[in-house]
Amino acid sequence: MTAPAAPGGTRRREAFSGRSVFVFAAIGSAVGLGNIWRFPFVAYDNGGGAFLVPYLVALLSAGIPLLLFDYSIGHRFRGSAPLSFRRMHRFAEPIGWIQVLVSFVIAVYYAVILAWAACYAWFSVDQRWGETYEETATFFSEDFLRAGSGFGLDFIPLITIILVAVWVITLGVLLAGVQKGIGRTALLFIPLLVVLFTALVIRSLFLEGAMDGLNTFFTPDWGVLTDPGVWIAAYGQIFLSLSVGFGIMLTYSSYLKRKSNLTSSGLVVGFSNSAFEVLAGIGVFATLGFLVSSSAGAGWDDVGGGPGLAFIAFPALISQMPGGPIWGVVFFTCLILAGLTSMISIVEVVIASFQDKTGVSRTAATLGVGVPMAAVSILLMPTETGLQNLDILDKFANSIGIVGIALISLIVVMFAMRLGPTLRDHLNSVSSFKVGRIWIVCMAVVTPLVLAYALFGEVRTLISEPYEGYDSAVLGVYGWGMIAGIVVLSVILSLLPWRGAKRLDGPPEFDDDPSDFTYDEQLAHRRASAPNPDTRKEV
Ligand code: ALA
Repeated sequence: MTAPAAPGGTRRREAFSGRSVFVFAAIGSAVGLGNIWRFPFVAYDNGGGAFLVPYLVALLSAGIPLLLFDYSIGHRFRGSAPLSFRRMHRFAEPIGWIQVLVSFVIAVYYAVILAWAACYAWFSVDQRWGETYEETATFFSEDFLRAGSGFGLDFIPLITIILVAVWVITLGVLLAGVQKGIGRTALLFIPLLVVLFTALVIRSLFLEGAMDGLNTFFTPDWGVLTDPGVWIAAYGQIFLSLSVGFGIMLTYSSYLKRKSNLTSSGLVVGFSNSAFEVLAGIGVFATLGFLVSSSAGAGWDDVGGGPGLAFIAFPALISQMPGGPIWGVVFFTCLILAGLTSMISIVEVVIASFQDKTGVSRTAATLGVGVPMAAVSILLMPTETGLQNLDILDKFANSIGIVGIALISLIVVMFAMRLGPTLRDHLNSVSSFKVGRIWIVCMAVVTPLVLAYALFGEVRTLISEPYEGYDSAVLGVYGWGMIAGIVVLSVILSLLPWRGAKRLDGPPEFDDDPSDFTYDEQLAHRRASAPNPDTRKEV
């Protein structure tokens, strides 16, 4: 569980056993709830087939470049987000902590969606949610969630118990460590997910009405390409979906051996994630085509995105389709598999930073931050106000948290510290596919401009009208208060002394982590750097 001490007394950084395990873990993080339920409706709401144009542009101009940006920082500075930014500059450390705290907030609500999915996998067997769309909608909000508003703390026992189980599993995997926990889970879950989801999509294509659904999805509305909102939606989808900008890919790449092909891994992860997303779009719309043509009583305007899609529209169609219980279990199992590997990566961002800052073992770090995170999640989410809390946390953490910190980190790294060429050279020194001026232009100009535009627009809207009409006190606490809390805490955490990582200025040098190198390389390095010929014999 705990990495052995490296020569020289420092704890050796944990590592993935190889690049393929890392790629599986990164795909596991990227492919999540955002792919299966969010992408299809973002695409549908923003021009259907025509959305694929801004989506592809966003993937190539921001998604993959930002993925490589995260990789280059984590790999070069070999630390969690706060440690990597601290190694760039003393005053950059709060950027890392903001990423950690955004991940904290996302994990708090992400866990409860997994708990809902587990409950619904079970409900699929007897379809207790009813037959029609109206019945499944009532079941979800009134019987299952007992959805209310305000600050109530009335727990729903079933969701509470399952949520505890989700946290136990997540922390159990993380206790096992980078390779044995994160790596092995991804190696097991991702192939299983691909098999189950492909079977589900193929089944969906044979349903009555499937072609109508695909026509609805793919019929392009080219007029939307002149609407800036559509482009913002495409960039927003890419950030969440690829897990970039809030510390995940940065942390994972810090567990890669020195000689790892970063850019080709990034291309594999980026395109696999998008392929899964488009597959999800096809499967979801084919099944919704069936739902709309069935006797469930739902039209295209009813089947909304977010919770409504997975927990209202899908149950209705499961009740209508032949073999519904089996396909219901398969669908919700896919949500759990995809979501759990993403959840693990989000919590790891927090654990890794705590471990680096305090120097405690993985077990102590996992329990030390994992248990308080689980406690916050269990206190806020399985309650009658859980849906409201989730909606507000999700909106503010994504639209302001991720977008804001991605913008700040790009400005600080590319302009204040002028590290663009250093990071580009680092990527090129270990990778087969080289990046050049275009990558720098994407990171220094294109992405910051889009992010600044999106952030400005979101903040203006959220200030001018209360989000979804929620109570302003609740929005003040879970929305604006949460954002303010993250900023203040990031400064406080940066002021605390480092007890874990020894070297804080600049990237760690060779001797900090000799396990990354072959015996011959270690020997050659020792020989070259030893001042006294007598000490040049041993590693
Ligand atoms: N990338 C993860 C998702 O799509 C967080 O849900």
